[in-house]
Amino acid sequence: MKENTEENLMEKIVSLCKRRGFIFSGSEIYGGLAGTYDWGHFGVALKNNIKQYWWKKFVDNRRDMYGVDAAILMNSKVWEATGHVANFADPLDGKQFNTMLKTQIGAKKEEVAVSYLRPETAQGMFVNFKNTVDAFHPKLPFGMAQIGKAFRNEIAPRDFLFRQREFEQMEIEYFVRKEDWEKYFEYWKDEMLSWMEEVGIDMNKIHELEVLGEERAHYSKRTIDFEFDYPFGKKELFGLAYRTDFDLKSHKLDYIDEPARDESHSGGEKNKKIIPHVIEPTFGIDRAVLAILLSAYHEDQKGGETRAYLKFKPSMAPVICAVSPLLKNKPELVEYANIKVFALLKAEFGRVIWDDNGNIGKRYRRQDEIGTPFCIVIDFDTLTDDTVTVRDRDTGEQERIKVESLIDYIKNKLD
Ligand code: GAP
Repeated sequence: MKENTEENLMEKIVSLCKRRGFIFSGSEIYGGLAGTYDWGHFGVALKNNIKQYWWKKFVDNRRDMYGVDAAILMNSKVWEATGHVANFADPLDGKQFNTMLKTQIGAKKEEVAVSYLRPETAQGMFVNFKNTVDAFHPKLPFGMAQIGKAFRNEIAPRDFLFRQREFEQMEIEYFVRKEDWEKYFEYWKDEMLSWMEEVGIDMNKIHELEVLGEERAHYSKRTIDFEFDYPFGKKELFGLAYRTDFDLKSHKLDYIDEPARDESHSGGEKNKKIIPHVIEPTFGIDRAVLAILLSAYHEDQKGGETRAYLKFKPSMAPVICAVSPLLKNKPELVEYANIKVFALLKAEFGRVIWDDNGNIGKRYRRQDEIGTPFCIVIDFDTLTDDTVTVRDRDTGEQERIKVESLIDYIKNKLD
């Protein structure tokens, strides 16, 4: 088996994403719009799987996390209070260029106000801190989580999904007592690493970078960047920051600390007004997609030809299985495949497609490129013994499985 080479890897990924309906350049038929991408059917499915898995692990499976979906447009006072208006800038021609995307709101001249499209989802959580505390009365430590779009007027958008002007983030603001920050910083570092592994990011390509003094964002006392070996270099994938009490203090928010549920916390006074400190794990979804695509892309030799395949974890794959009648001009095969297999699997898994285009070899190659872990073929034996072939994407091997056992067979392989 030929090892996947780094050579032209980005070109191969970008071209596969377009050809197979994952990701397209934004506004393409009008010459594009730099720093924007549009997502096709399989790209949306992959992105949704990533987001859903993140929400399940960090919100649904926990008792201490509260979801938020805040507006993208926020009062510009938010960004003045947090220092973004003054500090959220990159150097350009010897000056600092603020990279927040400005817009105007309101129709009548006297009502028109400047607003910013949020450059991070984080503030949507901080400004709803009081609402969340009042509604749910959470005890420290607890967190807020949000998935959503963020916008930055990047000076030089580049490297496909890596640096865009419109992108998506999944962020957590985890509120702790000041004296506990180091413990929870370590805890979230481990949680982030396990999530990366669980979604199929190649952990040999992950490196931790301790971000030093001046390199850190203005609000952070400690930051670790998780870097990934992209074909264009070792660069940031996700980040973990200790934001101290910077944001809550900026918004003049506080919290009445009551006796802790968390026995292990290291002391502190009770029933006292405090400003919690914040540990922030942040994940860029687009960079997650890019890292997963780069980790999944493989090439090998099959039947004297080079084949490209995406070795997604089955739970992340845009399509879990493809169903094919061996021959599309044999009504008895088509009918069996459609009614007894496709309808059954579609109802169970949703992410199932019908593929009867071209010969079986071509169908397998197409599904390999999409990263479909299982191809199911209905042939003449099916009509007599109710078994189908299930082909494994990675090995190319086929097994005969009883139709009645198909759902369990696939479920067992969804990690
Ligand atoms: N709330 C903290 C924050 O926004 P950040 O490091 O500026 O921190 C967080 O951004 C994550 O968002 C990054 O680790 C990266 O994954 C993603 N990200 C940032 N800028 C991006 C861009 N221009 N295009 C795509 N993803 C981006």
